[in-house]
Amino acid sequence: MRHFVSVADLTREDVLHLFEVAAELKTRRKAGDLATPLAGRSIALIFEKPSLRTRVTFEVGAVQLGGRAVYLMASEIGLGTREAVSDVARNLSLWVDGIVARVNSHETVLTLARHATVPVFNALSDREHPCQALADYFTLWERGLDLARIHAAWIGDGNNVCHSFLLMGALLGSRLTAACPAGYGPAPEVLALVRRLGGRVEVTPDPRAAATGADVLYTDVWTSMGQEAEQARRREVFREYQLSDALVRCARPTAVVMHCLPAHRGEEITDSVLDGPQSIVLDQAENRLHAQKAVIKEFVGER
Ligand code: CP
Ligand code: NVA
Repeated sequence: MRHFVSVADLTREDVLHLFEVAAELKTRRKAGDLATPLAGRSIALIFEKPSLRTRVTFEVGAVQLGGRAVYLMASEIGLGTREAVSDVARNLSLWVDGIVARVNSHETVLTLARHATVPVFNALSDREHPCQALADYFTLWERGLDLARIHAAWIGDGNNVCHSFLLMGALLGSRLTAACPAGYGPAPEVLALVRRLGGRVEVTPDPRAAATGADVLYTDVWTSMGQEAEQARRREVFREYQLSDALVRCARPTAVVMHCLPAHRGEEITDSVLDGPQSIVLDQAENRLHAQKAVIKEFVGER
């Protein structure tokens, strides 16, 4: 049974194959070709947190592949309260062909994967957001960037999206820099895994140093879902880490600006950068659909 709980569940070859499949699905979609490798199959979507992009792209993606998606709010099914996570996994496996889960604790998605007899996909946990990283690097790949040669800089919180961004960069051979305030860097275990995967990664507290000469500048919110009580403190801690026009000017003139969205405009990124000519955030958002369709097709469609 193959799951997609962490970027590290994939090999470099898997990722490059998924890029090819995503590109083909994207082209076919735009040509109006409605292939249905998911005909008669269903996926369950369990969400413990809000979502725009992830929910819509998984639901619409399943439908476009000829299948269907069943959305389950975690509070409604009582994940871990009304019923043990393991029992939810065992039961869902009787009826659906894949389980997509957005959870508070990474342990929950690992437990689902341990007990499910269908593939489990991590739709964001406190540790990782692997579907996001797949779509993000697909976006760079389809622009023709040589991923083994780029310098990709993360600016801000060393959070779930950062972890998956670094792990995917490691698989693909990119040079990686993360500029994070002390105490807010990537988890040491994740950095160790990045290095085990052969990743060239450097962590610095200096956003200008990280951005200098970079081909890719990536940022995310300073306060992730579930951290709202820390918002005021985080605004202070991260004040020097805003992705502004001045910081973008440190990067290569051809650099692209990335953000997983939702953005907190005026906090981690200025309007002028988010909406500016170097921003590719809407390409990333669009590619969530195509990249996840590739994952569903490869993991669920051919079982
Ligand atoms: N980037 C992303 O996962 O967006 P949502 O939280 O809206 O799903
Ligand atoms: N780091 C953010 C990403 C949202 C897609 C969060 O976890 O809320």
